[in-house]
Amino acid sequence: MATTFLENPLRVGLQQERIPEPQILVIFGASGDLTQRKLVPAIYHLMQSRRLPSELTIVGVARREWSHDFFREHLKQGVEEFSDGIKAEDAWNNFAEGLFYCPGDMDDPAFYQKLNLFLSELDGRRGTFGNRVFYLSVSPKFFSEAIQQLGNAGMLKDRAKTRLVIEKPFGRDLQSAQALNKVVQKVCRENQVYRIDHYLGKETVQNLLVFRFANAIFEPLWNRQFVDHVQITVAETVGVEDRAGYYESAGALRDMVQNHILQLLCLTAMEPPNALDADSIRNEKVKVLQAMRLANINNLEHSAIRGQYTKGWMKSKPVEGYRTEPGVDPNSNTPTFVAMKLLIDTWRWQGVPFYLRTGKRLPKKVSEISIHFREVPFLIFQSAAQQVNPNVLTLRIQPNEGIEMRFEVKMPGPDLRTRSVDMDFGYGAAFGVTSSDAYDRLLLDCMMGDQTLFTRADEVEAAWRVVTPALTVWESPTNPADMPTHEAGTWGPEAAEQLLNRDGRRWRRL
Ligand code: BG6
Repeated sequence: MATTFLENPLRVGLQQERIPEPQILVIFGASGDLTQRKLVPAIYHLMQSRRLPSELTIVGVARREWSHDFFREHLKQGVEEFSDGIKAEDAWNNFAEGLFYCPGDMDDPAFYQKLNLFLSELDGRRGTFGNRVFYLSVSPKFFSEAIQQLGNAGMLKDRAKTRLVIEKPFGRDLQSAQALNKVVQKVCRENQVYRIDHYLGKETVQNLLVFRFANAIFEPLWNRQFVDHVQITVAETVGVEDRAGYYESAGALRDMVQNHILQLLCLTAMEPPNALDADSIRNEKVKVLQAMRLANINNLEHSAIRGQYTKGWMKSKPVEGYRTEPGVDPNSNTPTFVAMKLLIDTWRWQGVPFYLRTGKRLPKKVSEISIHFREVPFLIFQSAAQQVNPNVLTLRIQPNEGIEMRFEVKMPGPDLRTRSVDMDFGYGAAFGVTSSDAYDRLLLDCMMGDQTLFTRADEVEAAWRVVTPALTVWESPTNPADMPTHEAGTWGPEAAEQLLNRDGRRWRRL
């Protein structure tokens, strides 16, 4: 018998109005961009929508010797510049009463004693009962130190009241991710740990679960019998911006593929979970990652392509090449573009290629997943001398969030001619609202203790395993330094086209 609306855990879960317990959010690296541009604007927005308790308190931690007032002013500017604005001065003043700043050195044990005392004092003043979220928004090289120090100071000891949020990247390869997991596991339990991948906070990414598992008509088609291949594109128009320091040591594979894109792939390919709780979903994602591999490990060029943008044109304006961007090594071999062909060895997906590509300075900002169905088994319209295109279902992650289904129709007129048309659903038009920022959702979930949209230790490691063969070859000292290039404003190097052309397919035109 079908479940009713209220019995259905998926719908109930998505409908619930949720308010977390009073707590203190301690942000390490609070003088940085993420706090000012994303975290605090998201919290302010949640506060205005009455999704957070009035006792919520934020303590910023960083080296700079700022005062509480300076910190508040800095955050106010951030909310004004990077979100809908503060709207009412009174509302901001109320919110600002819960903002504090605690300067200090993250590698100094004495600092953690001072911080701990300050947090206890705030518990008394603000009624936060010892509930804490420690958010590491610092450079990854400080993760390990900060986690150990928090552990040594006993600040993660209360398993019910303390949580740890770790920004990406989690490690820079399998080994370092394993080492970092060990550090984490020494000081806290996995159910206290929230590894962020902001793509999971995007409305359209969560919608993948609803689309697949709240509709009966797609799931029967979601397998090797009907699907020819899948394409995932995450294209950006921006270059490296002012992040060369980080990006030079990361590159597109670590920055986008190991985390964001493999998450999109997992949600697309996973089996239906038994329930909507964190472990049921993460178990299914891990299984996909464990079954996933580069299509041809012995011939990397047939399964993984890297590239770097050279100078070119974006929106009719000339732009620099990657190697001449500020802070970039003029001989850099850091890929700014990656394309891959992956296979998933399961009954559902055996032989179905998953092609993915991502890059900076591509012609368009667009993220989407497209499911390309097989051709019709036998074409009866031979005489019409036209090409009948296979069906394509596209999930548009951003911008212009929505879903489109491409199918063939008969063109009007006496001749039998067909054409592809799109049936289109747009979030904006259907709901009249823009999607909320991913950080709104992720911060709220973490404060509620819901780990569903965060990656688990084994999941991060399994994702590193998938990309390791490419990393090993590309970063081997004997690898010839002939980085394939493409002009800024084009869709990547020629080899990325060949990756599909070799299989008789081509990238979707975007
Ligand atoms: C970040 C990467 O994780 O995601 C950036 O470090 C990238 O390099 C960004 O620009 C893309 O995020 P979004 O939400 O703009 O697609």
